[in-house]
Amino acid sequence: AFIATDMKGTINLFSKGAENIFGCKAEDVLGTPISNYYVMGRDEAKKIMKILYQEGGLQNYETVMIIRNGKKVNMNLSVSLLKNSNGELIGTLGIGKDFTEFKRIERQLQQSEKLATVGELAAGIAHEVGTPLNVILGTAEYLMMEMEGDDPKIEELKIIISQAEHITKLIHQLLNFSRYNKPEFKSIDINSLVRDVLKLTDLQIAKEKIKVITDLQSDMPTIIGDDNQLQQVLINIIVNALHAMPQGGTLTIANRLDISESSTPHSNVFIEISISDTGCGIPSKDIPKIFDPFFTTKDIDKGTGLGLTVSHRIVEDHGGTIDVESKVNEGTRFTVKLPIQISEDTNVQ
Ligand SMILES: Nc1ncnc2c1ncn2[C@@H]1O[C@H](COP(=O)(O)OP(=O)(O)OP(=O)(O)O)[C@@H](O)[C@H]1O
Ligand SMILES: [Mg+2]
Repeated sequence: AFIATDMKGTINLFSKGAENIFGCKAEDVLGTPISNYYVMGRDEAKKIMKILYQEGGLQNYETVMIIRNGKKVNMNLSVSLLKNSNGELIGTLGIGKDFTEFKRIERQLQQSEKLATVGELAAGIAHEVGTPLNVILGTAEYLMMEMEGDDPKIEELKIIISQAEHITKLIHQLLNFSRYNKPEFKSIDINSLVRDVLKLTDLQIAKEKIKVITDLQSDMPTIIGDDNQLQQVLINIIVNALHAMPQGGTLTIANRLDISESSTPHSNVFIEISISDTGCGIPSKDIPKIFDPFFTTKDIDKGTGLGLTVSHRIVEDHGGTIDVESKVNEGTRFTVKLPIQISEDTNVQ
């Protein structure tokens, strides 16, 4: 995309490519100041002019611009000064590339690098800590068996055991990052997976005055995945939902086929599983953090902050996505989309 201005910064050329990026016609833009379109406004325009004067040009400068409807795009700008035949400065010519998508992928990469580091750590920690921990647990349980039932020291032993179990759980979850725990793929029926998970979480649900609604479509195609891992994803999300509804509430689990418009190379048919609760909700400032390792708002004995990180990783390994919508004091919905592998002869309308 090309945009040219005069020396005052008034736009006097706006190319087709620029129209595409900005979503508006050249005639709406010509004659207006370029600074209108920088998120940083006139300060940004002045900064760019200063660099142009000092260095004669500007290469790969990253800025954020405002396009139609107030939407923001990350732009990569290269700008040069224009001179007329007498060598007088008459304006600027900028070439801009929209790299919003690139920025998004860059953020995703940073996230997976974070995870890879945790994964390597996990394998080491699990090995070094796991064995002595088992000895502690085993010995404490042995002592407990040896004690008389009315011995007051039993309470202290219970503390040792429950704390050691907490560490075991932590290590277990850390291990889910580990390279050595790659998924084993086979064909899975989503409805039976959901029913199995509900059986596993049944006890806890009964305890907590939760109404469960399931809305499962019959005749769902199977997906290819690791059932243990996918079970874990659903359990993590359901347990979070239960934690969010300490006074009781409604848990809704639904699934449906999602045939998206944009065709990705492999599949554009997904099974969508949504898990909604009527709990405390997530403040919007926390939403970007909930998938980060160790982000938790729970007490130390209740949460490690790895549940969603692990779930995110698993769903990604399955080529799927996991999204969240939430309103404080109203509830939260997690949506997991898993792709269906379509063979040549399967017909999906
Ligand atoms: N359904 C929900 N309603 C409200 N808050 C939620 C919900 N799901 C997740 N959260 C928030 O996201 C945080 C991170 O969740 P995550 O499952 O990763 O960790 P955790 O539940 O705190 O610990 P654990 O590792 O035991 O799962 C939670 O501490 C909570 O603040
Ligand atoms: Mg959790």
